[in-house]
Amino acid sequence: MPAQASSEQPAASAGDGRVIAPLGRRRGEVVANEASGGYRIVSAIDPAGPLPAAGQFYMLAAEHGWGGDGERPFLPRAFSVAEAAGDERGIRLSFLLEDVGPGTHALAGLEPGDGLLLTGPLGRPFSMPRSLNPDAAGAILVGGGIGLAPLAIWRRTLAASGIAERSLLGFRDRDHSGGLELFRCSEVRLASEDGHAGHRGYVTDLLERMLAGDSAATAVVYACGPPAMLEAVRALCEQRDVEAELAMESPMACGYGACFGCAVPLRSGGYMRLCVDGPVVNAAAVETALVAGAGHR
Ligand SMILES: Cc1cc2nc3c(=O)[nH]c(=O)nc-3n(C[C@H](O)[C@H](O)[C@H](O)COP(=O)(O)OP(=O)(O)OC[C@H]3O[C@@H](n4cnc5c(N)ncnc54)[C@H](O)[C@@H]3O)c2cc1C
Ligand code: FES
Repeated sequence: MPAQASSEQPAASAGDGRVIAPLGRRRGEVVANEASGGYRIVSAIDPAGPLPAAGQFYMLAAEHGWGGDGERPFLPRAFSVAEAAGDERGIRLSFLLEDVGPGTHALAGLEPGDGLLLTGPLGRPFSMPRSLNPDAAGAILVGGGIGLAPLAIWRRTLAASGIAERSLLGFRDRDHSGGLELFRCSEVRLASEDGHAGHRGYVTDLLERMLAGDSAATAVVYACGPPAMLEAVRALCEQRDVEAELAMESPMACGYGACFGCAVPLRSGGYMRLCVDGPVVNAAAVETALVAGAGHR
C-alpha cells in the first residue's frame, strides 16, 4: 500500500522534495518491534509530524534508558525511514535497524507502549528518475545490508507513481541480513558474500551485469549501503555514464546542520553537511563515497 498523507498533517516542502520537520523533538509511541533476519523493524506512531519523503531520516532516542548517569549513548542516532503511512493516530513510521552499539541496542529492545523521541523528517530525499535523466525507463535500486532501509520506502513511492523498479540487494552473511519483507511486490535479485542467498559475491556484480544489458542512456541507479559498496556503485556508474543517487552516511551529532560533524568533501571543492545537503546526494557531486567513520562495514 502506498504511503498516504494524513489530512491533519499537511507536509511542508522546501521545494526540493524534502519535507520540513516541525521544530523540536517529540514523543512517538512504539507499536511494534519485530525481528527480521538479523535486523529489527521498529515501528512507532508519530502523532505530530508530516509524512516523510523517501530518503529522509530521523534522529531517534529511546525515552528511557538513554544517557543519564554517565551512560552511553549521549546523543540521538540517525535512522532512515523504511516505511511510512498515515492512520487515525498520526504517521506510522518503521525503521530497520541493526544492533551494533549502545544506541541501536537500546532501540532494538523497545516494546510496544514505550516512548520513542524523534526529530524529523530530516535531509534531502531521492529525486524522481526523470528529473535525473529525462529518458529514464525506470529505476535500479541497489542496497547493501542495513542500507535497504531507505530503498524500501523509495521503491513503494516509485511503484505508487507507476515507475518500474528493479531491486538488487546484497548481504554479508545470514546474520547480517534481513528486511526482505519490506520489498514484497518488487522484482528483487539477491547476492550474499557467503552464498546463503542468491549470487555468491557482491551486489555490485549484479549491478554490473544489469548495466551491461541495459542502455546507459535510459538507466538511473539509487544506492544505499556500506561505504565500500557505495563507492563501487559510484565508480561503475561514472564509468558507464549512468545517473545515480547515493544515500550516504557520516557521523551525525545534531542532524539539522548545527554541528558540522557530518561534513563530506565535494568534488567541486569544499564540503557539504550530509544531514542538510544529503543524505541523498548525486553521485557525480562526490569524489568518493568512502566516508570516514560512517560505521557500516
Ligand atoms: C542518515 C543516516 C541514516 C541511517 N540509517 C540507519 C538505518 O536505517 N538503520 C541502522 O541500523 N543504522 C542507520 N544509520 C547508522 C546509525 O545511525 C549508526 O550506526 C549509529 O551510530 C549506531 O549507533 P550506536 O549507538 O548503536 O553505535 P555507535 O556507538 O555509534 O557505534 C558502536 C560501534 O559500532 C560500529 N558501528 C556503527 N554503526 C555500524 C553499522 N551500521 N554496522 C557495523 N558497525 C557499526 C562503530 O564503528 C562503533 O565501533 C544511519 C546513519 C545515518 C547518518
Ligand atoms: S549532523 Fe550536525 S551538522 Fe550535520
